Amino acid sequence: MGALALASGSAANTYAVLNLAGTGDNIIALSTLYGGTYALFAHTLPQFGIEVRFVNPDKPEELAALVDDRTRLVFGETIGNPKINVIDVRAWADVAHAQGLPLILDNTAPTPILCRPFELGADVVTHAATKYIGGHGTSIGGVIVDSGNFDWAAHSDRFPGLTKPDGAYHGVVWTEAVGNLAYIIRARTVLLRNTGAAVAPLNSWLFLQGLETLHLRMERHSENALKVAEFLNGHDDVAWVSYPGLDGDAYKEIADRTLKGGYGGLVSFGVKAGREGGKKFVEALELFSHLANIGDAKSLAIHNATTTHSQLTPEELEAAGVPEDMVRLSVGIEHIDDLIADLTQALAATR
Ligand SMILES: Cc1ncc(COP(=O)(O)O)c(C=O)c1O
Repeated sequence: MGALALASGSAANTYAVLNLAGTGDNIIALSTLYGGTYALFAHTLPQFGIEVRFVNPDKPEELAALVDDRTRLVFGETIGNPKINVIDVRAWADVAHAQGLPLILDNTAPTPILCRPFELGADVVTHAATKYIGGHGTSIGGVIVDSGNFDWAAHSDRFPGLTKPDGAYHGVVWTEAVGNLAYIIRARTVLLRNTGAAVAPLNSWLFLQGLETLHLRMERHSENALKVAEFLNGHDDVAWVSYPGLDGDAYKEIADRTLKGGYGGLVSFGVKAGREGGKKFVEALELFSHLANIGDAKSLAIHNATTTHSQLTPEELEAAGVPEDMVRLSVGIEHIDDLIADLTQALAATR
């Protein structure tokens, strides 16, 4: 229905929540999240009096017990980064709606090419355009997209920012003034205007260029990542592999119902040599770049426990699905033979 471009994926996720929740409220988040989002929810939002209740992403049936009359939304990642778990979007939308809550999904990893969450019942979607949409790691930006489907007025007490006079904008009642554009217009006119995380114009231009090739890149990312996952799966120096396209993967069945046209470019796996082995592996890579980003045309690798998730406690690492031996690959669009050759020599270095 409407969208709002912002300065980063993190700004998009922050605004997506702050648009509905304030001091004294709570939200429910599926626990497998990008490290920055996890830290936002576990540490920053509580500083503003917003409590975040984490829920197992495999257990939509556990949502109802966490909801009270100050709960404002359910948030998750379609494909959790870096666990690479696929959530059952339809099931989460159903349980959220049964409680009068919107489902907000960060759809960065599959992009709209591989997953269209609105068709599965999600209400609001966010993207870090920094990743696949841009495609080259040259620009930071984010987007919030509002389906316009959630009926805020039908749950008026839960969403006073949209359904009661808004002091931040001349006492307007957003649902009366702009109907089903209420959520996205308030994000623009209140949060963006008052706190200013605007996207840089040059970045917007780069994102529009990236969009022109997104469909082709996602096809090749998916094709390469499946081959990489199959290669790792049979390898002596690898303890486990997580890729939803792999036969036997715990999320294959959900992925087949949720994704279309491929399983994306993210693969995570455990190095048999453990935490130290994970570090050595990443340092030995030559073609893969050692980078915390995902979604570039070129291949990237990171050892999460010592980088993106280094501020998490061992218990938090467990809940976020980030074991200490885990390496996350963002498989690029290079020739598959070159990728396999690089992985082969880097795995040898872990022994
Ligand atoms: C799934 C996901 N969402 C959001 C973000 C944050 O995006 P940005 O780097 O644009 O702030 C990231 C970054 O890695 C991410 O992987």
